[in-house]
Amino acid sequence: MQRAMSPDNAIQIQTFTGHAIAEAQAAFQLLHVNVFEDWPYLYRGDPTERPYIAGYINHPRAALFLASHAGQPVGAATCLPLEDESANVRAPFEARGWDLRRFFYFGEGVVRSEWRGKGLGVRFFELRESHARATSSADYTLFCSVRRPADHPLRPSNAHTNDAFWRNRGYVPLPGVACTMTWKDVGDAAESKHTLDFWIKSLTGAPLPCG
Ligand SMILES: CC(C)(COP(=O)(O)OP(=O)(O)OC[C@H]1O[C@@H](n2cnc3c(N)ncnc32)[C@H](O)[C@@H]1OP(=O)(O)O)[C@@H](O)C(=O)NCCC(=O)NCCS
Repeated sequence: MQRAMSPDNAIQIQTFTGHAIAEAQAAFQLLHVNVFEDWPYLYRGDPTERPYIAGYINHPRAALFLASHAGQPVGAATCLPLEDESANVRAPFEARGWDLRRFFYFGEGVVRSEWRGKGLGVRFFELRESHARATSSADYTLFCSVRRPADHPLRPSNAHTNDAFWRNRGYVPLPGVACTMTWKDVGDAAESKHTLDFWIKSLTGAPLPCG
């Protein structure tokens, strides 16, 4: 585990990789459930359930970055090689016959609402891209974002997307490439399938894949 200071010097960012991720999975789970409850994820999680991040522990090149202020977690981000991700995330790439080793996947980037706009989200992208460069020869980093209908009943009137923030980090949509994930939406009794669209950046200057 490594420690570093963020743009706000009062915030400490710790890096956990492979088995060490176990030390941070409870803190991560609390953040994940808290932040993803909001629009557009509407994720009804249980902080006491087995953290899904537990799967990352088996992968030595997986990383979890945890930002804390006065010992309290305020944000987190995750990443791992796409080839180590779950089958549903790999599926659209495998279906196209693309070499999974060319992609490094960013799982989450979450910052508690009161800590946003202070540079943490930018720092998480820098840290994950550095990790991808250091631990792989991937040409691309990428992540996915949930697709919601414009007329969704729970869409807040002041809802905004992260699109500008992501474009400012060098990411663009990867047209037509999407995966599905299953979770229980806030207010629902049962789990449902959700579509998530991929965004991508070339780390090496390699042309973006298309198809
Ligand atoms: C998306 C999210 C992670 C961004 O985190 P954040 O900490 O607010 O992001 P930052 O503060 O780093 O950047 C936001 C803006 O503030 C700017 N900024 C403010 N203070 C800054 C500082 N001290 N240093 C650098 N940038 C700063 C950034 O440059 C950026 O603006 P830009 O896009 O015009 O360059 C956060 O809004 C979030 O958790 N949202 C909910 C969960 C979510 O949707 N996650 C994404 C899907 S996994």
